[in-house]
Amino acid sequence: MSKNPLSRRQFIHLGTGAIAATTVAKTILQPRILNASPRPVAPSDTVRFASIGTGIRGCEHLQASLSVPGVQCVGVCDLYDSRHTAAREAVNNPSVFATRDYRAILDRKDVDSVLIATMDHNHRRIFEDACAAGKDVYCEKPMSHTPEDGFAMVEAAHKNSRMVAVGSQRVSSVLYAKAKEIYDSGKLGEVFSINAYWDRNSPSGAWVYPIPPDASEKTIDWTSFLGSAPKHAFDPVRFFRWRCFTDYGEGLGGDLFVHLLSGIQFITSINEPALRAQSSGGLFHFKDGREFPDLIETLYDYPSCRVTLRCNLNNNGGEFIGFYGTKGTMIIKDSTLTYKPEDTRPEPEGYSVYGWPKSLRDQYLQQWHADHPEPAALKWSSDAEGESYANPPGYSDTVDHQANFYNAVRTRKPVVENEVFGNHAAIGCHLANFSYFNKSVAVWDASAKKIVKG
Ligand SMILES: NC(=O)c1ccc[n+]([C@@H]2O[C@H](COP(=O)([O-])OP(=O)(O)OC[C@H]3O[C@@H](n4cnc5c(N)ncnc54)[C@H](O)[C@@H]3O)[C@@H](O)[C@H]2O)c1
Repeated sequence: MSKNPLSRRQFIHLGTGAIAATTVAKTILQPRILNASPRPVAPSDTVRFASIGTGIRGCEHLQASLSVPGVQCVGVCDLYDSRHTAAREAVNNPSVFATRDYRAILDRKDVDSVLIATMDHNHRRIFEDACAAGKDVYCEKPMSHTPEDGFAMVEAAHKNSRMVAVGSQRVSSVLYAKAKEIYDSGKLGEVFSINAYWDRNSPSGAWVYPIPPDASEKTIDWTSFLGSAPKHAFDPVRFFRWRCFTDYGEGLGGDLFVHLLSGIQFITSINEPALRAQSSGGLFHFKDGREFPDLIETLYDYPSCRVTLRCNLNNNGGEFIGFYGTKGTMIIKDSTLTYKPEDTRPEPEGYSVYGWPKSLRDQYLQQWHADHPEPAALKWSSDAEGESYANPPGYSDTVDHQANFYNAVRTRKPVVENEVFGNHAAIGCHLANFSYFNKSVAVWDASAKKIVKG
C-alpha cells in the first residue's frame, strides 16, 4: 500500500482533472428562440406592448424585442424626456407614441402587455394598475421593493387573471436549461450545499453612473419618480444612481442576489422563500453617500439545503453558482457550465488502516476484495470526463425570456418565473437586507408574510 499512496479514487480524480484540462470539449448550446413559440407567429397573434421605464434596462429590452418574433412596440413611457428619444432610437421608430404618464399607456386599447422597467419602488403601483387595466405584465426584477408589495402584486395578477413574467432572464437561458436537466437527472446526487457569487470591480459595476448634462427638474418628472417614497428635494444622483438608496432600490440584494436566487430556484425547483437568512458585509470602498454596502454575504437556510451568496463590488470575480452534490459538482461560471462527477464506488479504506499492523491490514484488504470482486460500472457515460457547455456566441437570454413571456401571453400558459416565483426570489433579497441592517438573523414568518428578527 505504501508503494502506491494514491487510492484509485484519487488517481481517477487526477486523471479526470488532466482530461478536463485537455480534452473535454465544450458543447456549444443551441439558441432556443424558435422553440419558444410553438409555431410561426401569425400577424393576428402579434403581441403589442409598451415599455414603462425606458432607462438602461428598458432600452435593452426595446432593442432585444426587435429579435423576438411576433411582437410590436406601440408605446414608450418615461419620466425623463431624453429617454423618450433613447427609446425611439432603441426600437428604430422615431414616431412611436411616447409619454411621461403611464396611465396614458394603460388607457390604450392597442396595448396588450406592458414591460415595467422602472426603479424598483415604483414597480408595485404600475403593476397593480396594469393588471386592473387588463394588461399582461413583464416586470423587471426584483419584483418587489418590500415583501408587502410582492404579495399585493401577486394578488393583483391573480384577481385580474394576468400573465406575468418577472425579469431574471437567466431562468430562460439555454445554459440554465441544461443545468436544470443535469440537476433533475440525479447525476449530482443529493445537493445540500449551493454557493453563488456575483462580483464586479468598477465604478459602473457599483452604479456610479454619469449624470446626463440635460438632467433637471424641467426634463424629469421628479414628483412621479418619488411616487410613494419619502419626499426629497430634486437630486439627480438619487434619480440616476437610485440603486444606492433604500427608498428606491435594494442595493446588491435587489440588483444581483435576486438573479442568483432566481437561477437557483429554477434549477432546483425550490419555489418558496428561505426559512431564515444571516448577512454580513460592509461599505468599504464606495463611500459616496450611498446607503447600501459594497460587500454582502448571506447564508440562507432552505428546508432542503443551505445556500450562501456573496456580492463584492471590490473584486472582478464574475458570476458563479456551484451545486455541490453527493455524486457530483455542477458549476455555472459566467457563460459556461461544467459538471464533474465524483467516483462514489466503494473502495477499501486507505487512510485509517495506516495505524494498523501489516498483518491486520492485509487481512482487511483481502476480505474487502473478496467482498467486492469487480468494481461497479460507472453509472453515467460522462463519468470519466465530466461535461462542459457554453452559450452560443452572441446569445441573449433576454430575447429568450421575452419570447417565453409573449408566448405565455398568446397561449395563457404561465411562464416558470411568474409572479409567485418572482415574489419568492425577491423575498430572498429582502431577507438579506433585513439581516444586514438589523444585525440579526432574519426569519421568514410565512403565516404573517413578514420578516422578523431571529
Ligand atoms: N434583468 C436585468 O438584467 C436587469 C438589468 C438592469 C436593470 N434591471 C431592472 O430594471 C429596472 C430599471 O432599471 P434601470 O437600470 O433601467 O434603471 P434606470 O434608472 O436606467 O431607468 C428607470 C427608468 O424608469 C423611469 N420611471 C420611474 N418611475 C416611472 C414612472 N412612474 N413612470 C414612468 N417611468 C418611470 C425613470 O424615469 C427611469 O428612466 C429595475 O427594476 C432594475 O432592477 C434588470
